[in-house]
Formats: sequence, C-alpha cells, structure tokens
Amino acid sequence: MKLQELFGIELPIIQAPMAGAQGSALAVAASSAGALGSLPCAMLGPDAMRAELTAIRAQSRKPFNVNFFCHVPPTADAAREAAWRAVLSPYFSQYGIDAAAIPAGPGRTPFNAAAADLLEEFKPAVVSFHFGLPSAGLLLRVRAWGSKILSSATTLEEARWLEAQGVDAIIAQGVEAGGHRGHFLSDDLSAQLGIFALLPQIARQVKVPVIAAGGIADARGVAAAMALGAAGVQVGTAYLLCPEATTSAAHRAALKSEAARHTALTNLFTGRPARGIVNRLMRELGPMSSAAPAFPLASAAIAPLRAKAESQGSGDFSPLWSGQNASGCKEIPAAQLTRELAARL
Ligand SMILES: Cc1cc2nc3c(=O)[nH]c(=O)nc-3n(C[C@H](O)[C@H](O)[C@H](O)COP(=O)(O)O)c2cc1C
Repeated sequence: MKLQELFGIELPIIQAPMAGAQGSALAVAASSAGALGSLPCAMLGPDAMRAELTAIRAQSRKPFNVNFFCHVPPTADAAREAAWRAVLSPYFSQYGIDAAAIPAGPGRTPFNAAAADLLEEFKPAVVSFHFGLPSAGLLLRVRAWGSKILSSATTLEEARWLEAQGVDAIIAQGVEAGGHRGHFLSDDLSAQLGIFALLPQIARQVKVPVIAAGGIADARGVAAAMALGAAGVQVGTAYLLCPEATTSAAHRAALKSEAARHTALTNLFTGRPARGIVNRLMRELGPMSSAAPAFPLASAAIAPLRAKAESQGSGDFSPLWSGQNASGCKEIPAAQLTRELAARL
C-alpha cells in the first residue's frame, strides 16, 4: 500500500521527529505542506506533551506522528556515575561547577502507561518508536485505538523482527542519519549500514512499506531513495535551520559552518551512540567512551557544562546532532522545504 494511503497524507515524506530540536510548530508546518509532521516526546514530561498535542490539534486537522523512545531504563550505578564525573572534573573546574550539586536525572523517559493514557485522548494517525518497540501490552493499546505503528531498523535482522511484531511500516535508518542510532538487537556498530546498502536489502525482504532515513537532504536524494525501493523518506537534519525548529543558537551556528562536514557517532552526551557534529568534548574524550554511563544517564553530568558553554555562545559541550549530509539545511519555512524535497516525485 502507498504510504500516502496508509497515513492519509499527500506526500511520501515524514518530517523526522527530533527531540530537543523541535516541537509542535515544525510538525504543523511540515503537515501543512502535505508531509507527515512529527512530534518527538522523548524529552517531554506529561504537561509539555499535553500542551504540544493540544497545540497541534488546535492548528491542524492533518494526520501527524507522535514519537517515543522505548529503551529499558537502566539501574543507577553510583560508582560509574562517580567515575564519569571524575572524567569530566577538569571541565567542571574550568566553568566553576560544583560536581556534587549536579542532580542525577533520567533525562529521557521511555513510552509507558502514563504516556499511553495521555496519547489515547488524541489518537494520532501515526505513532513511531525508536530503539525497538514497547511491551506487547502497550503496543496493543496503541493499535487498538487505531494509530499506525512505525519503528526504525538499522539492520535487516531488526527489520524482520519489527515486521514479525506487526508494525505497519519500517523506517530503514542508514548510518548517515543524525541523532540516535535506533539499533536494538545488537550493539555492534560495525553492523550499521549506509542507507544505499541497507534500504534495498530490507525492501526486498519485508512486505510492509519501507521508509528511508539518513543523509536525504534534497529532491534528488528523495528520488534516489524511491528508486531503491523506498515507499517514502524520513528527513531530519535538513529541517534543523527552519524557523519553526527550536534548534539552539550554538547548534544552528555549527550547522551553518564548515564544522558540519565532520560528524561522528558519540555516546558522550546520553550514553547511546548518536551522530553529531564533532565538537570539543567529542575530540577530547571520544567520540565513544567506555566511561559514559548507560543511556540516558550520561546526560545529567553534561547538562550544566552545556548550559554554561551555551550561555557564552559555545557549542563545545552540546549534542550538535546532525546527519552526514547537512548540505540541505536551509533557513526557509518548513512548508517550503517540504515542497522542495518533493519536487522530483
Ligand atoms: C537533532 C535530531 C534529533 C533526533 N531525535 C530523534 C527522536 O527524538 N526520535 C527519533 O525517532 N529519531 C530522532 N532522530 C533521528 C531521525 O528520526 C532520523 O533517523 C534522521 O534524522 C534521518 O537522517 P538525517 O538526519 O540525515 O535526515 C533525530 C535526528 C536529529 C538530527
């Protein structure tokens, strides 16, 4: 079935959910141009989530996607946290931060029963997950109220697994993609493939529609993905400079600079590999470090460093999430960018 029919949209384009870099405004703008706009909820508490969902409903009658992480929260490990803070201590000294006063915090909450209760009031057309799927019980609830279900696969094995769980479509996330890797069956990063290797393999092996994500930044990229068997595309990085995105000043500056040509997978900011523009913290500690606590615990100790540095106009300690191809980032309204992406369909 065509993606447009499956979701009730006009263009086979999904504006990728990007936690920390956008909210309802970008979702509404992308939807207004006929794409599927997305609301990322990984970093939203219940009140913020309700406010954002209400804002979308107030401004748009179009279908939209609501996105969640679905990791298993780790048990806190005091020794590991202390070791992590010791690694960061020279930076705390530089910025005059009292490491003992930094609160430990979960940072990102996975999809749970409370989020399902709230979501049920809104019954979005699509719900997408990152890092696999939630429990069978929670998934059943989402399916019961009628939302279509999506999740990311980074390998053929993950795509087959997702199809067996009954997802309505699969996002093939190439290793070029910005933000967190969606892998959930294996932590082996050498198993992560580029989109032109991953997409045709998945498209040949599964029956559900496959959506290509990673490095797609213009109309030619969209057309190329469709030629390789994609039913649609999910585009993230290209939207980050749109005025409707909430991308920070430091992040915008990095995306517009030469620095954006060098990205890497790093676990320093959250504890899970994610792709971002290489900055001071990544150069000096990683980009991958065994000292970083399990996802999402690593983020708590970084937060005050990030805040101090950003207040001085520096992105040295910020997660500057970006895909390998930032060449499509434009400071134009998201509806216009969406129409440009669709120009060769
Ligand atoms: C700033 C940023 C934040 C992201 N946050 C999320 C998220 O909250 N949930 C999610 O499923 N994917 C997230 N992603 C990954 C996207 O869904 C998608 O895989 C990626 O943007 C596609 O590659 P591209 O960035 O090269 O277009 C994020 C990506 C970026 C760039």
